[in-house]
Amino acid sequence: MRNEQRKVSVALGSRSYEVIIGTGLLASLGQRCKALDVGKKCVVLTDTHVGPRYADKAAAALKAAGFEPSIMMVPAGEAAKSLKVVARCYDGFAKQRLERKSLVVALGGGCVGDLAGFVAATYLRGLPFVQVPTTLLSQVDSSVGGKTGINIAAGKNLVGAFHQPRLVLCDVEALKTLADREYRAGVAEIIKYGIIKDPALFKKLEKSLPKILARDTAELLSVVTRCCEIKAEIVTADETENGERASLNFGHTLGHAIENTAGYGRYLHGEAISVGQVAAAYLSAKFTGLPDTEVERIRQLFLLAGLPVTYKTKPETRGRLFTAMQHDKKVSAGEIKFVLAKKLGEVVWGHKVVDADIHGALDFISG
Ligand SMILES: NC(=O)c1ccc[n+]([C@@H]2O[C@H](COP(=O)([O-])OP(=O)(O)OC[C@H]3O[C@@H](n4cnc5c(N)ncnc54)[C@H](O)[C@@H]3O)[C@@H](O)[C@H]2O)c1
Ligand SMILES: [Zn+2]
Repeated sequence: MRNEQRKVSVALGSRSYEVIIGTGLLASLGQRCKALDVGKKCVVLTDTHVGPRYADKAAAALKAAGFEPSIMMVPAGEAAKSLKVVARCYDGFAKQRLERKSLVVALGGGCVGDLAGFVAATYLRGLPFVQVPTTLLSQVDSSVGGKTGINIAAGKNLVGAFHQPRLVLCDVEALKTLADREYRAGVAEIIKYGIIKDPALFKKLEKSLPKILARDTAELLSVVTRCCEIKAEIVTADETENGERASLNFGHTLGHAIENTAGYGRYLHGEAISVGQVAAAYLSAKFTGLPDTEVERIRQLFLLAGLPVTYKTKPETRGRLFTAMQHDKKVSAGEIKFVLAKKLGEVVWGHKVVDADIHGALDFISG
């Protein structure tokens, strides 16, 4: 099969970079990195699920282009985003004698990307890094935009830095080995882009979702590219989240609270924000004029994706959810704020919602 590729530019002045979306991209990793004017030494940071499948291929491509790569494996999932693993990476970098121009390649999902980005941002006050995202979520969301972060006991992503990658390579072929549940979780972020910025994408998804769920290559190339374009546009307009970038948090106020209170691992991020987006749609109908018919379209699309649209809670057991929403790091002065849709493709952020109305939304998603 002919290797296909698309390009999206993230325009951030001297920190601009390209996102390449395609098939067979891993083989071109070395040549593409060579064009970045970085040093010969490089580390491929990956996890125990992705490494055995793709790290040798990545290292071989880097070697063929004249790099001296080493592979560093970290635990899979959120466990990678810890201070302990960060320290291990620093020690590994020191052992490899990495220099200011040495390259860090993040090969994996959002967890590896967030960890590698943070380590690259801080070791020697900043090394160049390249993202090779291998989950649907990381291809359409976390690999683009330069947010890096790790978790501490007090909460997720509380420690981090903005550090833009020099290049993002989204090889949609890598998605073929992703577990079904992880794959669907990524679809929740794709639907989000339709709601916040692109009614045509939303409409297309209503038709083409079965093909996307079947991991059809052509469909994936088209949808991942569109999502990266939207993310790039938003990040370009508001790199450090002083305004529009907040729109990416549609469904996340409640979604994060569900993730944090449901118990470790019960809900994947994409699953929690699926329910969160249905709740946000309900509130949008109440406050920002989203027609009820659109709320139903949103609910149906998440259902079609096999994602949860209900979360059962009784009013008397909602205390922890409210506490979690109040402690969300995007909250200021204890007020709970939501991103709400005026219509499909247009949202407002920072909308304060009082407890009684949040109860209304929780009743709505209680089924
Ligand atoms: N920086 C940002 O802007 C941003 C945005 C959204 C989410 N995030 C972060 O991203 C993280 C979630 O990322 P994720 O959903 O990609 O999870 P993940 O990185 O944990 O990957 C999910 C699972 O799939 C495995 N995996 C990855 N690629 C695979 C492949 N091709 N084949 C087989 N298995 C594969 C991983 O090892 C892991 O077990 C969270 O920590 C979240 O905070 C960051
Ligand atoms: Zn998200």
